[in-house]
Amino acid sequence: MKSFLVLVIGFLICGAVSAQNHPDWVKSAVFYQIYPSSFQDSNGDGIGDLKGIMSRLDYIQSIGINTIWLNPVFKSAFKDGGYDVIDFYQVDQRFGTNTELIQLAEEVHKRGMHIVLDLVAGHSSNESPWFKQSMLADKNLQYSDYYIWAPNKPNDLSEQEASRWVEANAPRAKYFIKNFYDIQPALNYGYANPNPNHPWEQSVDAPGPRAVRRELQNIITFWLEKGIDGFRVDLAASLVKNDPDKKATIALWKELNGWFDQKFPQGVLIAEWFNPKQSIEAGFDIDFLRPGKLTSAYERGKKTDAKVYFTKAGEGDIVDWKQYFTDQYSNTINKGYLSLPTGNHDSPRIASEGREDAAQLKVLLTFLLTQPGVPFIYYGDEIGMKYIQNSPDVEGSKNRSGTRTPMQWDGSENAGFSTAQKANLYIPLDPDANRPNVAKQESDPNSQLNYVRNLLKLRSTTEALGNDGDWTFLSDEKQAYPMVYMRQKGNGKYVIAINPTDRAVEAKIKTLQANHVNNIYGTSKNGTYKIGKEQDTIKLPAVSAVIFKVE
Ligand code: GLC
Ligand code: CA
Repeated sequence: MKSFLVLVIGFLICGAVSAQNHPDWVKSAVFYQIYPSSFQDSNGDGIGDLKGIMSRLDYIQSIGINTIWLNPVFKSAFKDGGYDVIDFYQVDQRFGTNTELIQLAEEVHKRGMHIVLDLVAGHSSNESPWFKQSMLADKNLQYSDYYIWAPNKPNDLSEQEASRWVEANAPRAKYFIKNFYDIQPALNYGYANPNPNHPWEQSVDAPGPRAVRRELQNIITFWLEKGIDGFRVDLAASLVKNDPDKKATIALWKELNGWFDQKFPQGVLIAEWFNPKQSIEAGFDIDFLRPGKLTSAYERGKKTDAKVYFTKAGEGDIVDWKQYFTDQYSNTINKGYLSLPTGNHDSPRIASEGREDAAQLKVLLTFLLTQPGVPFIYYGDEIGMKYIQNSPDVEGSKNRSGTRTPMQWDGSENAGFSTAQKANLYIPLDPDANRPNVAKQESDPNSQLNYVRNLLKLRSTTEALGNDGDWTFLSDEKQAYPMVYMRQKGNGKYVIAINPTDRAVEAKIKTLQANHVNNIYGTSKNGTYKIGKEQDTIKLPAVSAVIFKVE
């Protein structure tokens, strides 16, 4: 009986620990996402590289950022900007060498910072030696079952399933299953409910899928043992096929995350899943939220008729967002972290769709950088780099190239990105003669860059505004503007009010019964908070955001 109790208690304790098994440093992590080809070129070939990144670490740190995440830097065919990996154990020569990546990690650590890479877990390039071997007629070679090969295409497939079948006419079989582009064959993690009439649908525990899982562990181990601090996992929800409720994919990641937590307790795994409720349950430390209608009328490149929230016209609504956020937040609190990034390499930048001036962007950044969870800043968003319409398709970027243009460091011809001929830059720069740049904003105390710095400083010195501070929505969601919410931890209490519109607005909220409320930071000194008996009144001028301290 006694030992049974001990077991039960032990189990409960372990459960509690594993639910919150995050490295300490994540509690105060602020990420910077770098698209390596576009950040800093060190050797004049027009493409960014690791030495270039190394030379900019002091700048990154000066913003108040303490962790960098690099999009894939591995040997690649570059038909999807590096997300088509040929060798997961080797840095592509365009970026440098493995040794340089390890040196970069050392430089990062010297500054008390961390570095995370991109793990393309779901697929490889069709030029990978694994895939080439699996194409051979002999099905019993080392990599034969790393991919999913089928002799014929059933005609009862759903449209979505059917779109994943690629005709290869390989000696092995006619078709393989892809994940994204045709050049990205899916790695074989098995099927949730294999159909006995479809012999290519192996179970997750078949030898092929097990070998692929071990390979994934080897890749993780290889880089973590060399000093890398973790990975952002590309398309993490895609691994197990025919798994609509994601149960089998969650189970797979639970096992992998359990192994990872044991082996690398200071390592971090971030899901690109876009559903924290599932990914946090699967053991990930962090997952992203989609901003929905807050910032863009585009969904996966297609224009919708959505009324965007962050516009001067102020025709958006906040009801859906509040519901979505509350649901994700309440289901993950104390278990893992949400992240609402400023942007990423796949979507338009925050400076787009008529939201190009610094005043508007400061309002949006106040919102983004006062959210609970882990902030991610996409390179260049701190200075208001714009989404560039009609940028040429480069290495499979399609319309995502407008978001991947070279970092703008200074006022010189190539903006300090590269010494190459202008025509040889990876993607053309923002052609605007007045494009924003770091050098100009460094010297202006009111610049967007310095605003971001001040916000991050406040966040890092104020527990309530930090990653673990609680969040409560305060205003009436039916009145979209201003949006008012509270961040709180211990005795610290802060109310944040956001007004992207070009008109003055007012909100009444249930009184917080405070003694004093002060406007401590934001875009306007004229935002006011009046304490009332039953209701408090918040007034904001046009295009403004204010952080109030409540005492
Ligand atoms: C992810 C990446 C995207 C890539 C795709 C296929 O969504 O963010 O850039 O094209 O996966 O790997
Ligand atoms: Ca270069």
